Parts: sequence; structure tokens; C-alpha cells
Amino acid sequence: MYLSSEEERALEGEYGEAIATSYRVLLSLGEYLGADRLIPIKSAHISGVNYANIGEEGLRFVEKLSEEAKVSVKTTLNPCGIELDNPSSLNPPSQFVERQRKIIDSYLKMGVSPTLTCVPYEYDNKPRRGSHIAWAESSASIYANSVLGAMTNRESAISSLAAAVTGKTPNAGMHLAENRKPGLVVSVSSDAIPMTTAEFGLLGLFAGKLTQKPIGFTGIGKPDRYQMKALGAGIGTSGSSPMFIALDSKPNGIEEVPYTIHEKKEMKDANTLSSEPQMVLLGCPFYTFSEVKKLAKIVSSKKVTKRFYLHLSRSVYEMAEGENIIHRLEASGIKVLKDVCPSLTPIGSWNGMDKAITDSAKGSYYMRTALKYKVGVLDLETIIKQYTQ
Ligand code: F3S
Repeated sequence: MYLSSEEERALEGEYGEAIATSYRVLLSLGEYLGADRLIPIKSAHISGVNYANIGEEGLRFVEKLSEEAKVSVKTTLNPCGIELDNPSSLNPPSQFVERQRKIIDSYLKMGVSPTLTCVPYEYDNKPRRGSHIAWAESSASIYANSVLGAMTNRESAISSLAAAVTGKTPNAGMHLAENRKPGLVVSVSSDAIPMTTAEFGLLGLFAGKLTQKPIGFTGIGKPDRYQMKALGAGIGTSGSSPMFIALDSKPNGIEEVPYTIHEKKEMKDANTLSSEPQMVLLGCPFYTFSEVKKLAKIVSSKKVTKRFYLHLSRSVYEMAEGENIIHRLEASGIKVLKDVCPSLTPIGSWNGMDKAITDSAKGSYYMRTALKYKVGVLDLETIIKQYTQ
């Protein structure tokens, strides 16, 4: 991969070890991807924030890097494992709180915005169509490629940080127009059309494991942006495809995989909870403001009958607070949380619970595999019907 003389000097350590490390990361990634050079990016979004996820090793890496490094482009941050302003709200062990704070402090020291959100594209970090960005968090990068028309590879925690520090990314993969075409088409039959956001998530979970290339869908019409958010999150969970495209018809010469009532039923059955849940978790990916408004409307003045958590970014929380929505949801018994990822943070084990209902296929997958919960996926309307009175 070609490096300019300036980049060569950075790689050799002329601007410090943190910048040299970042260039080494990008150089090996770029060579692996077959990039010809590095290109400038408009923004970065960093994952690798939750102590429950990155542990001691991640903490040490971020702390070390923060001794020297500063980000050079707008950089936002994924959710973590505590509410920063109210760290004991979910009963985490004190050691967890202390470690989590150190991770956040390290990112702040580097100049990262403490957005703590997995939906940065809603308010905090809105990329323009055609702009090159380097985003980790699969649901966000797939949404940026597929819905917003920005260009990003599915970055890892380390490569997104290296991109944030240098302001560059390898010119390969989704940064090249020729790679942004479907490599496979999932044809959804008329009896299997997803009707709810939860069902779009399950379709994504089914499709994501089929290919590493962009996925075309026929038969899904024009999903709204919340359905597309769920579809992308599902795709990002079960595989490494970076993008999806809703198509009117299948292009010639591309492999086609059917999604019929049979596959739809299999996905639903695999995501059904056969016993009574102890908690309801909403917000994976975090709810947007419109989704919060919709929830408040459906809940109305009913009271929840289970422990009920809603996960938001601080920016959406503030907007909802400004319209008195947080107060209304809390009056119904819903605990509204900022900053915390529900699917990788062991909220259940901190509070003696392991059976959950969610409206998210992605959430269901991670709660089952990473947190060892028993989990079921239901659509929001059904959740409210079943777990409120
Ligand atoms: Fe967000 Fe955590 Fe889900 S980061 S997408 S709530 S797994």
C-alpha cells in the first residue's frame, strides 16, 4: 500500500508512538484488504467501550494509547456498562464502575465525544451521503452504508480508533463504488413479508450469515427507517456483510436464497421464550426519539407488570425529557436508562434475573450468547399488550 512521505515519517515514530501504532494498524489492515492508499475520513465512531465487553486487556490498551493520542476528526463513542451520571442505578459491582470510568476517562482525554450511543447517525454524528467515514458498531456502519449512503467498512474497536487518531482509513471495501453491489439476493415470499420491526430484525439475522458481501432483498417493499435499523442490526449480528439494498427485482447472475413462511417460522421459533420473563429490555440498538414517542403513545397510562428497561442515548433522553416523555414512561413503571448497552451488560446477573423479552433480534442473540439469558423476541405492540395492565 502506498504511503506518502508524511505517513512514512508518522509510521517511523516521528510524531510519537501512539500515532505510529495507529499507522501500523491501518497499514496491516489496508494490506489485508488490498487497499492502494489511505484516504481522509469525515468522522469516526468507536466501539470497545463497555468494560463487560473489553475487560482488563481493552482497558489497558485504551489507557496506554490515551497517554499520547488525540483524535483528529469528529469521533463519537458507543454505549458502555453504567449510567455515567448515576453509576449505581443497575447495581453493578463497585470494581466494574471504577474500571468503566477509567475507560471513558481515557477516551475523553483523547478528545472523543462522550455520546455513548449506538445510533450516532440520529443526532450526534450525522454523515453526509457519499462521505468516507470509519465506523465501528456493526448496526451503525450498516445503517450508514445502506440508508444514509455514507461509505464505511465495518471497523473494529482498534481500527476505528486508529482511524480517529490519524483521520484516515484504507481505501478498500465499502469505500469503492464497485464493491457496493449485492453479492447475493434474499427473495422474501409474499407469505413471509416482515410486518413488524422485530420481524425485520429476524430477517436480518437470517440473511447476515449468508454472505460477507452486500445483501440484496426483494419482496420487502420500502421499509421505514426503523425497520431498516432493525434489519441492519440483525445482519450485523449473524455475519460480516457491510450493507443491504432493497431491490424491486433480482439482478441477473446473482445467487438467490428464498425466505418463505418456513424460514420465517424457524427464526421466530428459535427466538421464543417458553417460560415467564422476569424483565423486558428495549433499545438494542438504542431507541431513537421517534421510537420513544411511539412507545409512550402505546403505553399511554398503563402500568408495566415486569421489570421494564428502556435504553437511550443521553441526547435522545434529553429530547424526551424536554417533552415530558421520560416522566410519563417512568410513571408507567419503565426504567429509562442512558449510556448502557442492554445486550452486553450483565444487568440480569447483577439483579438476579436471567429470562428476558426484547423486541430486538440482535439483542436476543447477544443476551443469549454473551449473557446466558433465556430470551424471546416479540414486537413492541405485543410486548405492551402482554406486560402492562
Ligand atoms: Fe447497541 Fe449494545 Fe445493541 S451497543 S446495538 S444496544 S448490543
